[in-house]
Amino acid sequence: MFKIGFFQFNPEFGKVESNLAKVIYALSGVQTDIVVLPELSFTGYFFKNRDELKSMAEDLKNSSTVESLKAFCREKDFYIVTGFAEKAADRLFNSSLLIGPGGIIHTYRKLHLFNTEKDCFDPGDTPLEVNSVRSIKLGMMICFDWVLPETARILALKGADLLCHPSNLVLTHCQQAMLTRSLENSVFSVTANRYGIESRPHGNLSFTGQSQIVDPKGKLLHRANAAQDELHVIEIDIDEARDKSFTEKNNLFKDRRPGFYGEMVKTGSSI
Ligand code: ACM
Repeated sequence: MFKIGFFQFNPEFGKVESNLAKVIYALSGVQTDIVVLPELSFTGYFFKNRDELKSMAEDLKNSSTVESLKAFCREKDFYIVTGFAEKAADRLFNSSLLIGPGGIIHTYRKLHLFNTEKDCFDPGDTPLEVNSVRSIKLGMMICFDWVLPETARILALKGADLLCHPSNLVLTHCQQAMLTRSLENSVFSVTANRYGIESRPHGNLSFTGQSQIVDPKGKLLHRANAAQDELHVIEIDIDEARDKSFTEKNNLFKDRRPGFYGEMVKTGSSI
């Protein structure tokens, strides 16, 4: 058996050190293999502009936040998936890090930026990749990536058993849609969302909480409250994600007809 979970909380904008301290305190007693944190867990989300983001984003090779998370994973002997504001030379990415006892294993840079994120972040440039963690394979996607079903599909086709999905959701559709992302790919998913309101001089954003864990049959195993801190961990049987059969005569992957799906991978659109 394998343990997965999330920590839902309400990061305070710009308070990187205290957000990190909150996470470390909340996770210090937990027993798990993996815990997923929200998108942009340490900086907060609603940047005024690119310059403001630039002043807070961190280079992964020179980040006290990353060093603390690495040491924490080593001490706890577990893995964290977390949203992170990443600076790479003059580029800025809305990233997700997979960190384990040995350090950073993979960095995924959000491919599908949401709304005003496009004014601040560069679009992701990392391929969708699957990584082994102990007995399972996981893929990372970030928040709005849910709306492009290709994201989850590619990760599943590459062998992911589990989708780790750091989020800062402001719309209400995603939690329900992720039941379908799990069902159509026969994978577990953990959506770790934040809650609370970010009040900034340029506007307010309200986040929807309700972080959740879904099984490969699209069954909701747990959904958190809309506005409370919550750490939730469950045990899963990963073999459930490796059975892609749907009926006696249907298999989610073998039934695919890629020869008819050309439009999906063409650049641009016919409409
Ligand atoms: C989102 O992608 N943060 C909605």
